[in-house]
Amino acid sequence: MALKAIPPKRVKNPRKVIVTAGPTLEYIDPVRYISNRSTGTMGYSIAEECQKKGFSVCLISGPVCLEAPRGVEIVRVTSSREMLREVMKRSVSCDCLVMAAAVCDFRPAKTETRKIKKKNELDIKFTKNRDILGALRGRDDFVKIGFALETEKAIDNGTKKLKNKELDLIIVNKVGKTSNPFGKSVTDYVLIDKTGEKRIFEKTSKGKIARIISSEAKKLMERAFDEK
Ligand code: CTP
Repeated sequence: MALKAIPPKRVKNPRKVIVTAGPTLEYIDPVRYISNRSTGTMGYSIAEECQKKGFSVCLISGPVCLEAPRGVEIVRVTSSREMLREVMKRSVSCDCLVMAAAVCDFRPAKTETRKIKKKNELDIKFTKNRDILGALRGRDDFVKIGFALETEKAIDNGTKKLKNKELDLIIVNKVGKTSNPFGKSVTDYVLIDKTGEKRIFEKTSKGKIARIISSEAKKLMERAFDEK
């Protein structure tokens, strides 16, 4: 009787983690753009914590005033389309993607090649950018972690995004009068996983939540790759 071969355990070492961070800039003309207030602090902290855990980390960053954490590969991008391209290219060989970037949902339909001169009124037509996590729907070969920035119905909207973007974990961040996630302040976070389990972290610093997120990434990767 032929012996059945035991398939090798799927070990990936060191695990490859992609973290996106910062805003994207969408140019209107050579000197003007639309963007948002993301500072990149959250994504950079997550990248640093993942690196400390021994992962091989690639940080795909929009324009920010931060230095890349030591030992982390940095890929600098400007627009949402550039970020999409880099994420798609690198996702082929990654174990986990953490989308902490504040990607602009819109870009000017046309980028003028010359500076727009002063006038009384200016109409700019915007076109939708592709959703990066959305573009990765159907890919279940790596762990996906996303964020939800909400001004209302934070948990409901976060849960919808978790399902719609096929995430393993979502970190919901509420923007309001008493909670402002931009910059270095402490804010309230809710972590929601695929099973619907919610964990609330009140008045938590970005450093602390980054440590928690990197631990969650580790656990999710262990579950996805080792225990199959
Ligand atoms: N995201 C993305 N591609 C985009 C926009 C957002 O991958 N073009 C990611 C973000 O990095 C984040 C998650 O999707 O991890 C949710 O982003 P958020 O701005 O909260 O939500 P949107 O999907 O943009 O929806 P809305 O702005 O309508 O709330």
